[in-house]
Amino acid sequence: MSNLLEVKNLKKYFKTNRGLLHAVDDVSFTIPRGKTLGIVGESGCGKSTLGRTVIHLHEKTSGQILFDGKDISDVDKHQLKALREDMQMIFQDPFSSLNPRMSVSQLIAEPLLIYKKCSGKELEQTVMQLMDTVGLAQRLYNSYPHELDGGRRQRIGIARALALSPKFIVCDEPVSALDVSIQAQIINLMQDLQEEHQLTYMFITHDMSVVRHISDDIMVMYLGMMVECCDSEEIFHNRFHPYTKALLDAVPIPQVREKKERRLIKGEITSPIHPGDECRFAKRCPYADQICFEKTPVSEEICPGHFVSCHHVREINHLQENK
Ligand SMILES: Nc1ncnc2c1ncn2[C@@H]1O[C@H](COP(=O)(O)OP(=O)(O)OP(=O)(O)O)[C@@H](O)[C@H]1O
Ligand SMILES: [Mg+2]
Repeated sequence: MSNLLEVKNLKKYFKTNRGLLHAVDDVSFTIPRGKTLGIVGESGCGKSTLGRTVIHLHEKTSGQILFDGKDISDVDKHQLKALREDMQMIFQDPFSSLNPRMSVSQLIAEPLLIYKKCSGKELEQTVMQLMDTVGLAQRLYNSYPHELDGGRRQRIGIARALALSPKFIVCDEPVSALDVSIQAQIINLMQDLQEEHQLTYMFITHDMSVVRHISDDIMVMYLGMMVECCDSEEIFHNRFHPYTKALLDAVPIPQVREKKERRLIKGEITSPIHPGDECRFAKRCPYADQICFEKTPVSEEICPGHFVSCHHVREINHLQENK
């Protein structure tokens, strides 16, 4: 299967008063066409920065991005404008990402006008079609965002993202701000759209049940780095990195009957500013020894399609060496 997106050794460092902040540090992954990669990890681990850097909303520090067979690592203004048609973003808080002075139809028409896709009667019809696609009633054509509930506002955000018929959408916590009952409707809509339009998603979330439901693969991040990446179901049954174990053990999974000891993550959090050559999780890891404080682990394919960055992954999980 062909990959729509291939990211190699991507880094994004921010200059801060205290020094260089390693928000995304040497992250590599691929997303096959029409599939969803879920990105999970605690607040501040670099999920949004990763998504934004991939679609050039942030300028990368280094690394390579291949999209649809083309190297888009370095693009000029003109190329970026063309790229925007193919790569879009859906934001967490639809209210703050929508201009309150624009009506529903104006908001959905905006990308079409900027990209001179259509005008007049055709524009009106395209907007109505998009409203239909995302399940917004036509009577809301002249309404304003403040008159609508969170779910409908997020439908506007989705219609805007879809307007230019993109291939790839970064969905940054698109349902976190919504009521649980509305979350399911939006997730279902996004899955239907994915199927219908062959969309490829990068889906960022804190919610492990949402990510399990929507993702084909899941990547777990810790302080700017990828610690584990594999098939979405696999991670719920066979997780190998001590951080992933702790993260998922903290989530109540109703199907699991046996009583489990909950692993709490204790210890100091490594600073993302000049983090040094050590495993970022070492200070909190019960298995850490000397090598973990001396060398950053590199990602290794532990079994087919299952990548883990941990010096002691085999001992911890009683796995054989790959030979
Ligand atoms: N524009 C910026 N300038 C400086 N530092 C930034 C900037 N954007 C993000 N950061 C820092 O980069 C790190 C990663 O932030 P990011 O927003 O990507 O995390 P996140 O995983 O999306 O968190 P959350 O789950 O809270 O949304 C954090 O330490 C954050 O403070
Ligand atoms: Mg974020």
